[in-house]
Amino acid sequence: MVFRGGSPQCVIVLRMDYLTSDQLVKYVETVATNPTLWHDLASVSDKRSYELLISTPVLNAWVISWNNGHDTGLHDHDGSAGGVIVVQGHIIESRLEKHEHGNCIIEREHDYHLGSTFQFGPFDIHRVRHAGANKGPAVTIHAYSPPLKRMGSYGFNEYDEFNRLPMEGEEELRPLELALKKDGSYQQKE
Ligand SMILES: [Fe+2]
Repeated sequence: MVFRGGSPQCVIVLRMDYLTSDQLVKYVETVATNPTLWHDLASVSDKRSYELLISTPVLNAWVISWNNGHDTGLHDHDGSAGGVIVVQGHIIESRLEKHEHGNCIIEREHDYHLGSTFQFGPFDIHRVRHAGANKGPAVTIHAYSPPLKRMGSYGFNEYDEFNRLPMEGEEELRPLELALKKDGSYQQKE
């Protein structure tokens, strides 16, 4: 968390309360080496599952299971940094990045397999999805600091405007276009 105003020393003290993206990656790597911590929280059902692994004032972490068609849609983490490791299968992350030759924003894809890690900063916008048919179930461990409490889901409306919808941290993410009714209101997942 960045404290605006006050002395630089105060800023440093507040930042030490939370973990960096690098530290979060190290954390999920450590957890991954001990399957007894996370294996029972993984699921291979058709439904995407996300099970809380740990919740502390400094970080929270989730075990997420993925199957064909599972897709978070573009989202942010409302100021939380994160670290992720793949402990089974294959997922694809895409991230909004500014194009190097202009201001246009592009969605760049990255493939992650068993043992791969990636991280994101508090203001990154990304999307995570299963790698597709015939790829088998995937399981990932995600850690967030400050602890994830809210997210923002992004999508285009009927006027091609890019919108952000605030969401609670425990709500299931999906592409915003699928979550909105025709009148523009949000439809809770059953
Ligand atoms: Fe995310």
